Amino acid sequence: MAFRFCCGKALDRKRRGKEQPTWRVFSLKELHSATNNFNYDNKLGEGGFGSVYWGQLWDGSQIAVKRLKVWSNKAENEFAVEVEILARIRHKNLLSLRGYCAEGQERLIVYEYMPNLSLLSHLHGHHSSESLLDWKRRMNIAIGSAEGIVYLHHQATPHIIHRDIKASNVLLDSDFHARVADFGFAKLIPDGATHVTTKVKGTLGYLAPEYAMLGKANESCDVYSFGILLLELASGRRPIEKLSSTVKRSIVEWALPLVCEKKFSELADPSLNGNYVEEELKRVVFVALICAQDLPEKRPTMLDVVELLKGESKDKFTYIENSEMFKSPLAVESNDGTSAAEDSLDCISEEKESERELKENTEQ
Ligand SMILES: Nc1ncnc2c1ncn2[C@@H]1O[C@H](COP(=O)(O)OP(=O)(O)OP(=O)(O)O)[C@@H](O)[C@H]1O
Ligand SMILES: [Mg+2]
Repeated sequence: MAFRFCCGKALDRKRRGKEQPTWRVFSLKELHSATNNFNYDNKLGEGGFGSVYWGQLWDGSQIAVKRLKVWSNKAENEFAVEVEILARIRHKNLLSLRGYCAEGQERLIVYEYMPNLSLLSHLHGHHSSESLLDWKRRMNIAIGSAEGIVYLHHQATPHIIHRDIKASNVLLDSDFHARVADFGFAKLIPDGATHVTTKVKGTLGYLAPEYAMLGKANESCDVYSFGILLLELASGRRPIEKLSSTVKRSIVEWALPLVCEKKFSELADPSLNGNYVEEELKRVVFVALICAQDLPEKRPTMLDVVELLKGESKDKFTYIENSEMFKSPLAVESNDGTSAAEDSLDCISEEKESERELKENTEQ
């Protein structure tokens, strides 16, 4: 991600006087007092960057503070520049930064607090037993998060590749609207600072094969990860399932044969108790699978994805439904003659080396 800092400044100058600044620099003292000295009871979770704490500012507003656990001098200068640019990005489906703090060795990022936490916590974590995600909310989350990524890929200047689209990076506001978090931060994480990132930044189970193997990141890698996320949202399953101590199955390997056999009801999350709109479920899984296909050039853009999820493009959808990859599992052969299932297993074994360091998504 190559930032042009000057563009943001110019934009700001034009707007000066009309709008309140959208972000600011926080002092360490202020963040200490907001989070009760980073008290363990305030801790919301932990990720690749470090721990995230809930806090309240003097004006009563609630914040989430991400405290970086490892920092490298090399990245020193980049930090403030990049955070300032990211803090200028505003979209209803992106988690806004309220600012940052850089004092001494401490690097902290301050976000809006999202009261319904992450999609991960509702699908597989603390909130999963409460079944708060009905089908309508799931559809809104699917479309909303897709719109957030469209903004990053097609409207933000410069364009931003997220590189770590996953259920814990989709946060939910008080109305369960999706807010995609952690965009543009992959390159800020120093090597070795995290259990969830590898030399290619990302999370096992969501990585596009070409990115996992060659480290080539572009928009279509996010499209792949988004496909995995959609399958997870519809089915309530994890991106990778352990069938035994040695055998793993990706969510694509599980879903594709069911779609080919038109067993859509088996794809729906059992916790929905059959309360879903079949037409929409079909849309979600077909779109998910064309996003999560091995060949990047065959994946749709996020603009296509939004159109398809909204049901705005009947012709395109019919074309997808009738495409070869959904004819029968045997027809799912990529150019080199191997199956999609084998390819994605290759991708997983490629990751094996760093697997020991990885806190896998299956175990979160
Ligand atoms: N703004 C926020 N509001 C509420 N909860 C948050 C917020 N930001 C993060 N969290 C919580 O903190 C947890 C940890 O977030 P964090 O982004 O550090 O890790 P992660 O998403 O699991 O991995 P990664 O480092 O790859 O993003 C999240 O799962 C989420 O539940
Ligand atoms: Mg995150």
